[in-house]
Amino acid sequence: MRLVFERGSQRDRRWSVFPDLMRHRAGAAARPIQIRDALWQSRPAGSLMESMGVTEQAFAVPASIEGMEDDLRKGLLPAAVFHDRDVYDLELRRIFAKSWVYIGHETEIPNRGDFVTRNIGEDPFILIRDEQGELRVLLNACRHRGAQVCRVQAGNTKGFVCPFHGWAYRNSGELIGVPVRSQGYASLALKEWGLFAAPHVTNYMGLIFANLDPDAAPFEEYLGDYKWYFDIQFALSDGGMEVLGEPHRWLVDANWKQGAENFCGDSSHTQMTHRSVLEAGIIDSAAAGAPREGTGLHVHDCSGHAISIRQVPGEAPFISYPEEVTRHFHAGALSQDQFDLAKRSLLHNGTLFPNFSFLHIGLSDSPQKPQAGFLTLRVWQPKGPGQMEIWNWVLAPKEASPEYKRRAYQVGMSSFSPSGSFEQDDVAVWPGVTRTAGTVFAELNKVRFNYQMGMGDMSTSKPLTDWVGPGVANSTNAGEGGLRTFHKTWYERMTNSKVEAGDHD
Ligand code: FES
Ligand SMILES: [Fe+2]
Repeated sequence: MRLVFERGSQRDRRWSVFPDLMRHRAGAAARPIQIRDALWQSRPAGSLMESMGVTEQAFAVPASIEGMEDDLRKGLLPAAVFHDRDVYDLELRRIFAKSWVYIGHETEIPNRGDFVTRNIGEDPFILIRDEQGELRVLLNACRHRGAQVCRVQAGNTKGFVCPFHGWAYRNSGELIGVPVRSQGYASLALKEWGLFAAPHVTNYMGLIFANLDPDAAPFEEYLGDYKWYFDIQFALSDGGMEVLGEPHRWLVDANWKQGAENFCGDSSHTQMTHRSVLEAGIIDSAAAGAPREGTGLHVHDCSGHAISIRQVPGEAPFISYPEEVTRHFHAGALSQDQFDLAKRSLLHNGTLFPNFSFLHIGLSDSPQKPQAGFLTLRVWQPKGPGQMEIWNWVLAPKEASPEYKRRAYQVGMSSFSPSGSFEQDDVAVWPGVTRTAGTVFAELNKVRFNYQMGMGDMSTSKPLTDWVGPGVANSTNAGEGGLRTFHKTWYERMTNSKVEAGDHD
């Protein structure tokens, strides 16, 4: 694991090469969110790629994953998916340029002019709230000759002036000035040369997602039945969830899918990888201990997404939130079934395909202190086939006291952060998978990894027939159905095909 230290990694309100474009955040009122679609200001992404001579046909399915559909039916996965450069290049185009990708949370940019820089695939974008309060996801690339117009990771500004030749843009992306225009750019139509923007942006319960595909289905359709589980994480109280502090980021020499599949429900690693944490007693043994019938719950094949839940029927641990927090919880936007599930839950972890994950859990930073519930959000940012950058946010219910939020942040940092006890364990083993996938031996022998846990006659547990929620639910943690769902969705999107349901849990 390598920590990332970059200049400007902290929100820097003083930064400005052009101070007249900056204004202080204080006093800028938050306004209701407005969603804006079809933001490409001059031409759509498709035509941009076509103008560069890039077509869909240029991206053939790599040989290393040909025939993978049969493997998926058997619960096998070619090792190459974690290392092959051709696979990775296709992922950037077929997965990240066509899926709803998480950009940030509205509480990170509450005021007009607030911005953060983020990525879709490896492409750099600026998430900004413009002067009208609209959320914009702008390509961080000057329309003149491509230099990055924003050089810091967060701040507040009325606009951007390119450091190369000085083209100036409003915080809406509109081009408003070009140096020596009357002498060299007299007939330039400014309105045609604004910053490119993601064609689709949505704010879902405070979560901002963008999609670069002009033909993308709406976010709610993409979310599908998974909404039932997803909403529980963000709508337990009227105020929803609030991001606490800056995101932490760190580099891990493992493929981005390693984290994404893990959060789909790799429950069986907890007893082994995190054994020292369990022995230290900073997690409820019922939450992390060996699966018991009725406590573990895996839901897979849920509109292409998956979730793992640990519940205690008949009890109300409420994800280890204390009464001072749970008294703000009520069904509200949730159904009674959803609310009841939250009430009897110890933890939820899931992945919204492709690279956005969540873990809603209660932990402590000391066996002497009580558990504290919190939500951690993850982005598994691709950085080439053999490396990812993990982005991590800690959230707590908005109504929680400042003291509780401090405690939740502290517990979150001590468990799931670059120095977190759980995190250290995971990033110690994940690179090994990517290393194996990159061996000559794996390539020559077409090595396949085993994802068969819980399949067909491997399992004594059958899908529940009376489960109240959507998807295929199993009352056991001894399964890898969620991981198989992830890779099935991945393969379908990579190949524009539909994989018939295989032999699942
Ligand atoms: S590249 Fe931005 S002004 Fe020239
Ligand atoms: Fe883990």
